[in-house]
Amino acid sequence: MAANTYLTGIKPTGDFHLGNYVGAIKPALAASHEYDTYYFIADYHALNTIKDAEELRHSIRSGAATWLACGLDPERTIVYQQSHVPETFELTTVLSALTPKGLMNRAHAYKAARDRNVAAGVTDLDAGINMGLFNYPILMAADILVMEGTHVPVGRDQTQHIEYTADIAGYFNHRFGDAYSFPIPKGVIDDSDASILPGVDGRKMSKSYDNHIPLFLPENKLKKAIRRIPTDSTPVEEPKDPDGSVPFQLLQHFAADDTVADVRKRLQAGGMGWGELKNELFEAVNAEIGPKRERYEELMANPEEIDAILRKGSERARVRARATLDRVRTAIGAA
Ligand code: ADP
Ligand code: TRP
Repeated sequence: MAANTYLTGIKPTGDFHLGNYVGAIKPALAASHEYDTYYFIADYHALNTIKDAEELRHSIRSGAATWLACGLDPERTIVYQQSHVPETFELTTVLSALTPKGLMNRAHAYKAARDRNVAAGVTDLDAGINMGLFNYPILMAADILVMEGTHVPVGRDQTQHIEYTADIAGYFNHRFGDAYSFPIPKGVIDDSDASILPGVDGRKMSKSYDNHIPLFLPENKLKKAIRRIPTDSTPVEEPKDPDGSVPFQLLQHFAADDTVADVRKRLQAGGMGWGELKNELFEAVNAEIGPKRERYEELMANPEEIDAILRKGSERARVRARATLDRVRTAIGAA
């Protein structure tokens, strides 16, 4: 069996925020220096929500450009587009034949969509739910298994999807394991609170709470967004509790350790105001993100460059996907 393969899908919907950068992009980039990594833009997952060609095209490029600008190296990592690997969809069909419908009925995302209908008093509980949402866990299992992914870095909301993938791989292996077995993948999920970036209101930064700071805000808007983070009215000269303040929590993720230690001391001693803390925070975030923002804008101005990277990566990914499908077809008797 091949060595460990780290694989993850990037949802190309909506703009990325600082929380995605800290919690998803940075750790995935770190893994790319250690392991065999396959990172792809999950465009056919996005099709469940985006029904506009220009919007989908833009989202694919913007998602890829974000990761590339943050330092993803397409020589080191296989960076590809889900829809460019059609073997994924063939495997989805095979896995669908082995997966009990009841498993899909119990999927969190599907149940949540039905619950929203209950709450809205709609009698047809499946109203507004497309088959793409219902089948999502099987497609995600195919994404992973077609590349024989062994480790899947994801947010904790994806835990059930990884468990389903392991179950679905198990159904296949149980039936056809004499001829071919999928490796059973594991989720790589950082559950520590230290890895969660707070939003401007102190809750976890999230698009759904509308408390996020977009990753590539222009410099002047970034400065304004940071200035607007609520703080209490403790006067400049009074001692302050660094850990209770959102700007300080954010600073810890962006500034060097000695800067953080120095700011902590100054806040505790009194004499440092929230305004000065926010200036430090802006400098730290802008120093880290500024060059990436420039690279992002450069890539978005040259979409052919992004498309070429995705095309090349997808060809490399297909080599692996074809090999898996050859084994699967033989194992099930289709070849
Ligand atoms: P959102 O909550 O804004 O919709 P997503 O669910 O799309 O974000 O998250 C995509 C990835 O970014 C996941 O891996 C998730 O764990 C990570 N992530 C999102 N928000 C944060 C955050 N505030 N802190 C750390 N990681 C985050
Ligand atoms: N479902 C994941 C999310 O919403 C994205 C995704 C699609 C994915 N296919 C995947 C993640 C395969 C890991 C492996 O974030």
